[in-house]
Amino acid sequence: MGAGGTELNFLTTEDLTRNDLEEILDLADEFTRVLSRPIPKVPALQGKLVANLFFESSTRTRLSFERAARALSADVMSFSASGSSLSKGESLKDTALTIEAMGADLMVVRHRATGAPWRIAGWTGCQVINAGDGAHQHPTQAMLDALTLRRRFGDLDGLRVAIVGDIRHSRVARSNVFALTTLGARVVLVAPRTLQPVNCEGWPVETTDDFDAVVGSVDATYLLRIQTERGGASVFPSLPEYVSRYGMTRDRFARLPDDTVVLHPGPMNRGVEIDDVVAGHPRALILDQVTNGVAVRMAILFRLLGGK
Ligand code: CP
Repeated sequence: MGAGGTELNFLTTEDLTRNDLEEILDLADEFTRVLSRPIPKVPALQGKLVANLFFESSTRTRLSFERAARALSADVMSFSASGSSLSKGESLKDTALTIEAMGADLMVVRHRATGAPWRIAGWTGCQVINAGDGAHQHPTQAMLDALTLRRRFGDLDGLRVAIVGDIRHSRVARSNVFALTTLGARVVLVAPRTLQPVNCEGWPVETTDDFDAVVGSVDATYLLRIQTERGGASVFPSLPEYVSRYGMTRDRFARLPDDTVVLHPGPMNRGVEIDDVVAGHPRALILDQVTNGVAVRMAILFRLLGGK
């Protein structure tokens, strides 16, 4: 597949064509049907070993990859930084080579450092999927978001999507900018100036610091948490002021057009970027995103590992 810059890996949405994206979404639709069967499993990847290497915390991505690999009958082994020999000084490279030596065919990698999945792809003979590298890319998240929007609206062509919050530190925002616009959506990035992305000249997006100016004209609002672990909280004056200008409060939700949906990659900080009532509203597709993540990851694993 041409995904992710090489024929072996899935690392970024930046160089995916519309055809790449649509083929993955179409395959994810087929795997959704598999997942709804009484026995939600196919033997497509029997004999393959998928290794999850998570050097940063995760609930959704990690479990979703596990579920996806097992539904394709692959074997799975999981590495967590916590409790590993990293604490004894083992390097990233030696960790990856050790896991390859146990027979892994493919590694799913999350790391706080931008580029870590590319390094592992270079050091090992394993195929690599980027499950989030620093503030850079989270391509499988963007694919599940695109699937969620396509299921809701049928097509992303002309859809106006506002991505709101800590864009500067968000790998989800970066991956979505490229995936959603390639699929025909119009993306507006909404953030205080200090949380707008740097080096984004040439991105096919609008940017604004005025959420209220766009709230009445969007089909989907994609909310992001403040990435405190990457310094996101230190660049605005106070949390109450942030919430009043950028939070999806009940009042702001009431001003959205009637069929506008709300997305969030999770984990949510209820009462900050999203009100508790909005998070539980039928037009909040947050749990649909999680559900769709399994089928999308099945599609990506299947394509990379040459499933039958
Ligand atoms: N959306 C996402 O990446 O969630 P996790 O950090 O729980 O994997």
